[in-house]
Amino acid sequence: MFSSRTNWALTPNRLSSEIEELRRKGRPLLDLTESNPTRAGFAFDEQAILEALANPRALSYEPDPRGLLVARQAVASYYAERGIALDPEQIFLTTSTSEAYSYVFRLLADPGDAVLVPQPSYPLFDFLAGLNDVRVVGYPLIYDQGWQVDWPTLAKRLEARTRAILVVHPNNPTGSFVRRRELAQLLAFCQKGDMALVADEVFADYPMAADEQRVVSHAGVTDALTFTLSGLSKISALPQMKLAWLILNGPPKLLQSALARMEIIADTYLSISAPQALALPRLLETHGALQPQILARLSSNLKWLDARLASGQPVSRLVVEGGWYAILRLPSIRTDEEWAMELACKDGVLVHPGHFFDFSSEGYLVISLLTEAEVFEEGIARILARVANSA
Ligand SMILES: Cc1ncc(COP(=O)(O)O)c(C=O)c1O
Repeated sequence: MFSSRTNWALTPNRLSSEIEELRRKGRPLLDLTESNPTRAGFAFDEQAILEALANPRALSYEPDPRGLLVARQAVASYYAERGIALDPEQIFLTTSTSEAYSYVFRLLADPGDAVLVPQPSYPLFDFLAGLNDVRVVGYPLIYDQGWQVDWPTLAKRLEARTRAILVVHPNNPTGSFVRRRELAQLLAFCQKGDMALVADEVFADYPMAADEQRVVSHAGVTDALTFTLSGLSKISALPQMKLAWLILNGPPKLLQSALARMEIIADTYLSISAPQALALPRLLETHGALQPQILARLSSNLKWLDARLASGQPVSRLVVEGGWYAILRLPSIRTDEEWAMELACKDGVLVHPGHFFDFSSEGYLVISLLTEAEVFEEGIARILARVANSA
């Protein structure tokens, strides 16, 4: 009856079942995986947000495959503020970056073609690619005082059927940005192998510190066909608004063909509603009041964590350059799944085991720095006590 692409393991894994059971029993839990910004105690400009959705122009239907021009102009201005000039014709609005990924995969790949994705990275890649009949091939990021691409392995994993290299800037959960020299290397691979570069920049506005070596944005890259994805879910901390975008750039002839084909993909769905598109300029503006609150939360949680880890703990954290997550390194006397399970059941603390993000070895837990301070601090204290009692 069903396609093989939907042959997923449909039963929840042991950790999720255990957490469900704890919740059912009403056990109070400290959720250090909280990454829903609308549940994390930030002050949103509620009036501006609701008014933005009530534009009378939404009463008429003006279909545009790319999404209404006024919204794309607002996206272009956001990039202009970052020094990148874009024509609104290069911008397509989508309901999520997930939809944008699907458009890109449909444009570039035939069934069975491959895309290279960083490892560890965003757990949704397997689903997004699989639903589009695309194979995911990992290229390792290795940690040595910071994260770097394992170039020799990346080169070995390229095939004739590799259609694109994906980067997440900064990556989820490693927090590592693409550096300028890394971009040059990636573009050399793309040019040589007729591949596109796909850059997910949803967390780009959340660096922990400035760094001249970093790429500002991939949206301005013209040396290879490049797709840049971002949206309001992280920029304005409004995931419920379902507003994202896809920017195409590249060598002029290739870009023109890609735009013409993408226009037909987008025209087939016309997925952004008029109230959404008309609200985008105002919703995008709200990032001005939101981002300072989020950045303050991320850095105060990180500072607090570092102060606790300073006193010779068997737990350490990896370098975080940006994004909403931190990675804890625990003694490998347990697997990361066992640590996560024990912390949930015995201490009421929820963390992500590293394997959820495809870490290549054990001993890593991922926590969200977006967590409210009180929960974060108590949760970390319990993690450290658990590890100290187990070592
Ligand atoms: C790397 C990455 N891309 C995209 C998203 C989600 O974006 P959207 O809500 O636009 O689909 C997330 C959400 O956590 C993410 O981690």
